[in-house]
Amino acid sequence: MRTQVAIIGAGPAGLLLSHLLHRAGIESIVVEAKSRRYCEERVRAGVLEQQAVDLLIETGVGERLRREGLVHHGIKLRFAGRTLRIDFARLTPGRAVTVYGQQEVVKDLIAARLAAGGAIVFDAEVDALCGHDDAPASIGFMQRGERRTIECDFIAGCDGFHGVSRATIAPGRLTLYERVYPFAWLGILASAPPASEELIYALHDDGFALLSMRSPEITRLYLQCAPDEDLAAWPDERIWRELHRRLEDVSGPRVVEGPILQKGVTPMRSFVAEPMRFGRLFLAGDAAHIVPPTGAKGMNLAVADIRVLARAFESFYRQGHGESLDAYSATCLRRVWKAQRFSWWMTSMLHRFDADGAFDRRRQLAELDYLSGSIAAQTALAENYVGLPLEA
Ligand code: FAD
Ligand code: PHB
Repeated sequence: MRTQVAIIGAGPAGLLLSHLLHRAGIESIVVEAKSRRYCEERVRAGVLEQQAVDLLIETGVGERLRREGLVHHGIKLRFAGRTLRIDFARLTPGRAVTVYGQQEVVKDLIAARLAAGGAIVFDAEVDALCGHDDAPASIGFMQRGERRTIECDFIAGCDGFHGVSRATIAPGRLTLYERVYPFAWLGILASAPPASEELIYALHDDGFALLSMRSPEITRLYLQCAPDEDLAAWPDERIWRELHRRLEDVSGPRVVEGPILQKGVTPMRSFVAEPMRFGRLFLAGDAAHIVPPTGAKGMNLAVADIRVLARAFESFYRQGHGESLDAYSATCLRRVWKAQRFSWWMTSMLHRFDADGAFDRRRQLAELDYLSGSIAAQTALAENYVGLPLEA
């Protein structure tokens, strides 16, 4: 088999790249380790920045997103018995976020690729990769017991944090930056109407909690827990008890309970691998960087990388020069580091750090108190949350 761009991974990054390349007349093949069903049902991110929404709509895969996505003009922060609303409409006029499940984006992109005759090979784990320099590029995998190879001009490593592409790079050639947090998120999806129309991020003495949603009937909720938390220690009653305690106050709405459809624990990490290009291999999305989910930036960063990468491939194939491909890593990393800073800041402000003393606790509350009284500080939060401008 031969194609112009071989893409490893059918997450948001790989599928969007394939879609944008197709629109630019560039061929690609996506190879994915898991089944189509698994990719379409994996519950993960939920918040899309304005620019990600605009890109999906402009490129013809936003019809359902426009119909079913929930546009949010603010978020709420709860702490010390108070609620602070960050008002995007006032602080970042004309910009908002849209709540639309990552698996819905994935479904829409898979449907669009298949309808356009695009090639996605599911259930095929890439285990060999050549092209870290100027030598001809290829990827290899097993498909239904047979060995396959795809020869290509370029490889896009869109295979997530645990993927193969970053792992094939010689250790001395990569610089890794990492922070692992001493807690995780226990996430549930429940068949219950969300108790609030807007997301609520709560700092509580027992730890962080987040109320989010997927639709007017489905709530998505998270609780700070231990990194090695055993789900067996969290029967449904304990989860609801903790959610009531951490998210409610006397005057606020009561969290609505309902059947729990899914439970999972997500570790929290900040991570960047630099650079994001090695010869003919380009890393994008979670393969190159991870943010803790408190800033809702992971999927949005994947979309931002892909926007830059698709344009760079387009200018390479149209004009025949590789300047944009050469600039890919540096262009993306500028945005990545700003998203890292914001995600770290939101995480530090809103979680309980057991090793911290009373000083740090007071500092955390002072940070939130300052935010409450400062329009400048609220604007800084809002402009990062809805997404920094493309050139920033
Ligand atoms: P992935 O979605 O991880 O896709 C990589 C794909 O590659 C996978 O399908 C995998 O099976 C495949 N793969 C791996 N290895 C191979 C191989 N060897 N061969 C072939 N295929 C392979 N982000 C936000 O923007 N907003 C949020 O609100 C948000 N909330 C989150 C909440 C949670 C609980 C979690 C876990 C994440 C959240 N994120 C959020 C982050 C977001 O989900 C990720 O950043 C996003 O999935 C990155 O997309 P990706 O395509 O780079 O990687
Ligand atoms: C979600 O809805 O899954 C979600 C929302 C906001 C976040 C993280 C996750 O910051």
